[in-house]
Amino acid sequence: MIVLAIETSCDETACAVIKDGRRILANIVSSQAELFEIYGGVVPEIASRKHMEYMIPVIDGALAEAGISLDGIDAVAVTKGPGLVGALLAGISVAKGIAISKDIQLIGVNHLEGHIAANYLVNPELKPPFLCLLVSGGHSHILIVNDYTDIQVMGRTRDDASGEAFDKVARAMGLGYPGGPKVDIAAKSGDHLKYRFPRTKFKDNPFDFSFSGLKTSVLNTINNLKQKGIEPDIENICASFQYTVARTLTDNTIQAAMETGLKTIVAAGGVAANSGLREEMAKECAKRGFRIFFPPLALCTDNAAMIGSAAYFHLIKGEIDDFSLNAVPSLRIGNK
Ligand code: KG4
Ligand code: ZN
Repeated sequence: MIVLAIETSCDETACAVIKDGRRILANIVSSQAELFEIYGGVVPEIASRKHMEYMIPVIDGALAEAGISLDGIDAVAVTKGPGLVGALLAGISVAKGIAISKDIQLIGVNHLEGHIAANYLVNPELKPPFLCLLVSGGHSHILIVNDYTDIQVMGRTRDDASGEAFDKVARAMGLGYPGGPKVDIAAKSGDHLKYRFPRTKFKDNPFDFSFSGLKTSVLNTINNLKQKGIEPDIENICASFQYTVARTLTDNTIQAAMETGLKTIVAAGGVAANSGLREEMAKECAKRGFRIFFPPLALCTDNAAMIGSAAYFHLIKGEIDDFSLNAVPSLRIGNK
């Protein structure tokens, strides 16, 4: 089954062609991130307009890369949420147009399920059940993936998402947007033990996260140094902050794996690109004999290939949408 997938939930206009949920025939991502550097974040109205501008060339590019025409496509998949409403609608409108004109199936996909599915595209042997740490700009979840379409929430952030904390800390240090990759680079030449930043653990759910206290503590450290006339040592602050996030994410995930007895751990989402997290997680998993999967960097951040993969596992169960498909900006994942 060949799926044409479209992703426009935030500031990437993306289209992919995916065979049987596992094979990438084409994967094109046009990022608007550079455009938003001057604003320090995404401007939703501009993002929607840019999606409309880039959409057709990106789809044409994906079809050309796959060496296929729309006549060779069996279904159109599109992100229905979570995301920015105007941005989501840009993709959904185009997907509906293709499905109507070619008389093929249409399916709306949960963006978060997509992030998990990125791993199926590069690891043919990976099959549920497994535990998933899903960390992106808007979400930080520990999930039990019972089956491709059966996902249970074990822990989630109670305030900021981990990616959001990276972006806000980066902004306070003038590193630019998106902050995660910039903090990651600066951290490489810093001492991760120079600053001790606070970590939050909840008694009622040890798998939940909170990153707002950590973020505030980093911002206070920067301000205190500035008030004393000292230039903040950005590399050390980045390294210490990143280490704290990486340890928190790793420790909660390992504890969840022990509790569930699941010995396969899968990381997903933009923050899964973080080198500190990859290092800590690999170390702890090796110690315990757990298998750990990370998507390649290009499939950690937003792309349409992951949407085409997630769609396939619904399509083979006969789950499709009709033309009343609409954007669901605060769509959730799982059962909690
Ligand atoms: O999954 P994603 O592309 O979009 C959402 O669905 O939110 O994640 C974007 C987030 C941003 O907050 C970005 O700063 C973060 O992922 N990110 C990183 C890294 N690369 C991207 N965070 C830490 N280290 C990285 N290397
Ligand atoms: Zn995403």
